[in-house]
Amino acid sequence: MKRTIIDQVSWLGVVDWNRRLFDSFVPLPDGTSYNAYLVEGTEKIALLDTVDPAQKDILLSQLEDVPKIDYLVVHHAEQDHSGTIPDVLEKYPEAVVLTTAKAKGLLMEHMPIQPERIRTVEDGETVSLGGKTLRFLHMPWVHWPETMVTYLEEDKILFSCDFLGSHLATSDLYVVDKGQVFEAAKRYYAEIMMPFRKMIRKHLERLGEMDIAMVAPSHGPIYDSPDWIIDAYRDWTGDKPKNEVVIPYISMHGSTAKMVAHMVSALVDKGITVRPFDLEVTDIGKLAIALVDAATIVIGTPTVHAGPHPNVFYATHLANSLRPKLKFASVIGSYGWGTQAVERLIGLIPNLKVELLDPVMIKGDPGEADLKALDDLADAIAEKHRTL
Ligand code: FEO
Repeated sequence: MKRTIIDQVSWLGVVDWNRRLFDSFVPLPDGTSYNAYLVEGTEKIALLDTVDPAQKDILLSQLEDVPKIDYLVVHHAEQDHSGTIPDVLEKYPEAVVLTTAKAKGLLMEHMPIQPERIRTVEDGETVSLGGKTLRFLHMPWVHWPETMVTYLEEDKILFSCDFLGSHLATSDLYVVDKGQVFEAAKRYYAEIMMPFRKMIRKHLERLGEMDIAMVAPSHGPIYDSPDWIIDAYRDWTGDKPKNEVVIPYISMHGSTAKMVAHMVSALVDKGITVRPFDLEVTDIGKLAIALVDAATIVIGTPTVHAGPHPNVFYATHLANSLRPKLKFASVIGSYGWGTQAVERLIGLIPNLKVELLDPVMIKGDPGEADLKALDDLADAIAEKHRTL
């Protein structure tokens, strides 16, 4: 189904209601969409992006009534947007791909596209379709190094690809439930964009100089009043963390769970927002969201084969790769007869520029002295948070 945004500008694409994983590890509790857009000038027609190759038949059916495509604008080479390019190029033998030089190389390595079908565009270059002017802005690292976005000058629409998007399947063309989209967009930012937040800040500065009436991303609904999502990105990408502690943990026989419960109470008593995540049941995306703002991570683990529990190992590796703005870290947990869990966990977080606060690893079940050690750690965290 083709949906009109404004005269001569339409949404095409697929709402993938039932997809539950992206990249084989990112949970999609609310599905996602692959948005493509059609911009029809008086002389030329441009298709902006395609869809995931598993859904190509839907896009091709939407194009049945489109007699010609002159330009296929490719913002990003990842397959969820580029995977149907070969089919579109086969259907429209005159169509030329417009993309960055870096994307040209990536596209040819990822799928069968002849180099003569690709024209590279410079940062700031424009292409006129006749009454509709596309301006291409290179924005590396939202999400890959080749990524660009397109600004439709006459209508002030920013086609932002992954940038500012959300994994959300909805029948709404535009944002209706802002709270729902905020959560989905924050999850998307946490899982996909957070590692590149310093570069994204520069792109946000550039957007701040532009007049943007609408943001049309490649996932999730269109922002018809986009200021709030741009402001949210400014907040998320900023350096200042909030007075929040994240506690990813797991417990095998209950000792670590008791320690986490005590720690949560102690921190709450000091006015700190605490988000514990039992890794046996948690949605790892919720943990990623919590890492966007937190100042401190306290990792809770029992000892398995002298090291941390495998689920804790996984969550810690993920936190390290997402590069959140954490300032402080510690480890709490228990062991039966000996442990190297702390050393091994610290070795997993070289990307986190954190100050390590004294860990609390105990033998067996927590006693009075152990709970006191947890209270001391909570005091230390509260004192550090006063410096934020
Ligand atoms: Fe939606 Fe990075 O692809």
